[in-house]
Amino acid sequence: MRSHYCGQVTDALLDQDVTLCGWAHRRRDHGGVIFVDLRDREGLVQAVIDPDVPEAFSNAERVRNEYVLRVVGRVRRRPAGTENPNLPTGAVEVLVRDLEILNRSEPLPFQLDDDDTSEEVRLRYRYLDLRRPVMQERLRLRTRTISALRGFLDEHGFMDIETPMLTKATPEGARDYLVPSRTHPSSFFALPQSPQLFKQLLMMAGMDRYYQVARCFRDEDLRADRQPEFTQLDIETSFMDEQAITDLMEEMIRAMFASVLGVELPNPFPRMPYEAAMQRYGSDKPDLRIPLELTELSDVMADVEFNVFAAAAQDPKSRVAALRVPDGGKIPRREIDGYGEFVGRYGAKGLAYIKVNDSAAGRNGLQSPIVKFLPDEVLAKILSRTGAENGDLIFFGAGTTKVVNDALGALRVRVGTDLGLMNREWAPLWVVNFPMFEWDEQAGRWNALHHPFTAPRVDDPAEVRADPAGCLSRAYDMVLNGTEIGGGSVRIHRPDMQSTVFDLLGIGAEEAAAKFGFLLDALKFGCPPHGGLAFGLDRLVMLMAGAKSIREVMAFPKTQTAACLLTQAPAPVTEGQLRDLNIRLRRTP
Ligand code: AMO
Ligand code: AMP
Repeated sequence: MRSHYCGQVTDALLDQDVTLCGWAHRRRDHGGVIFVDLRDREGLVQAVIDPDVPEAFSNAERVRNEYVLRVVGRVRRRPAGTENPNLPTGAVEVLVRDLEILNRSEPLPFQLDDDDTSEEVRLRYRYLDLRRPVMQERLRLRTRTISALRGFLDEHGFMDIETPMLTKATPEGARDYLVPSRTHPSSFFALPQSPQLFKQLLMMAGMDRYYQVARCFRDEDLRADRQPEFTQLDIETSFMDEQAITDLMEEMIRAMFASVLGVELPNPFPRMPYEAAMQRYGSDKPDLRIPLELTELSDVMADVEFNVFAAAAQDPKSRVAALRVPDGGKIPRREIDGYGEFVGRYGAKGLAYIKVNDSAAGRNGLQSPIVKFLPDEVLAKILSRTGAENGDLIFFGAGTTKVVNDALGALRVRVGTDLGLMNREWAPLWVVNFPMFEWDEQAGRWNALHHPFTAPRVDDPAEVRADPAGCLSRAYDMVLNGTEIGGGSVRIHRPDMQSTVFDLLGIGAEEAAAKFGFLLDALKFGCPPHGGLAFGLDRLVMLMAGAKSIREVMAFPKTQTAACLLTQAPAPVTEGQLRDLNIRLRRTP
């Protein structure tokens, strides 16, 4: 129906005839001449309809916003002074010979170029929201990203293999979405939280290198970077150790960034042990664009008069840490109070600080609500250890290690952003040497930090059993700008180790056999050493697009309450459907 896209009509086509299809973005009447900005996926071009083409002109008079049109005309240069340098097509216009209204549109529920439309309205009318150039650009970026990643994996011998959606629970730490079976009354499928077990079985099947652009389902609390249904680039390899896997994966991400964004990422990516990340950044996904670090002070504070600090310093599950902000002395009191409220959201009980006015003047050069509680030698240690100079501000956090890490970790990013300290655009890194287990206080047992199929660094199950707390895993996370974009591990490939880990996680032999019997069996029949990882594609594209939420790079996302406003899912079903499924509701709406 057309010869060109609207966005392709540039002065290269001068004096040529074109046929265009698209939406009337705006119509303007100018003393007898009508202008229609015609829009399609590739851009926008100005069409001019003169009264001396009566049929086209009378059609043009009936055009309203978002009518679907087909126009035939000749490309000409815009009169001097009327060019639009902001548009790629802005030097030209199409003088229309024929204008056909292909379809009409009712007035839209919101203006496409209004950036303040509520997300609720945008999601309800997502097909209109997606007409906006910014959304089309994001989905195009997504396409190019996936295509570049596929290209790399295809070249490196990976096989694209699909795994089932109707399956059994794969534990990744969230609740399952369940699907009732009609043919097996009282039984349920689980939608996969990831293809984890199937990709391991594919290695046991000898496929050697697997990938899949895989949909995953997790019923968990939603945030800006979490959706109940999201996409992973899921990868598994055989006979590769963690060094080989992470090397290949960062090569892939570097190649993709170069081809899609023209950005050269560092080679190699830095690697940081989990322990160091928590100590220095209070986070296992530190944003390294911000050149601020936490300083450990627990050893210095054990005997000070200020009980909040002394108590935290003496408790092995707590810490006292400082965050030095170079030149932070200029931050006004009111903003410091604001930061105090900010860390309160992470459970911090307060936010002590010291302004360093004149470090040579001893305690008299320090301005702070807590200096009076701290002896000279402690003050001197704080200054030397943080490296604080005149004009700096030092924040303090004391409390459980989790609260201090969460609070000062978030404060570091917030202050760094507020003060414009970010010193580069892209900061990738690998976080490595994760602990195998973390103690779940409430449940009174160990949890897997990554997942139960991750291999420990030691080979002997007895060593794992002897010291679960000290046991490190062969897991790795790829972090970009403070977001975890991917994670994986070398897997357990021996049945005795897998049973030991299940056992430590409180999954007894019987339960293990019922839930993962197929895996334990498969491990007995010549399972190769294997490992892999999965990238969160939505998160990756979100960062590349500079978007605030993964919802902005998904065509049809769900709301924070896991609903689809467009289709009104989830929705009740008929009594007949429930009967077929052998289900009776405990509570009816
Ligand atoms: P993990 O659970 O770390 O590992 O997930 C891998 C990556 O998926 C992304 N991600 C999400 N993105 C959007 N919404 C969510 N709810 C969500 N949850 C996770 C993150 C994360 O880094 N099977 C393992 C991988 C492996 O071991 O190979 C797994 O799923 O970017
Ligand atoms: P207070 O004696 O409670 O008035 O506290 C003195 C200073 O210490 C105030 O600036 C508080 O914000 C700060 N503070 C109190 N508790 C903590 C804590 N757990 N961590 C860091 N600073 C704290």
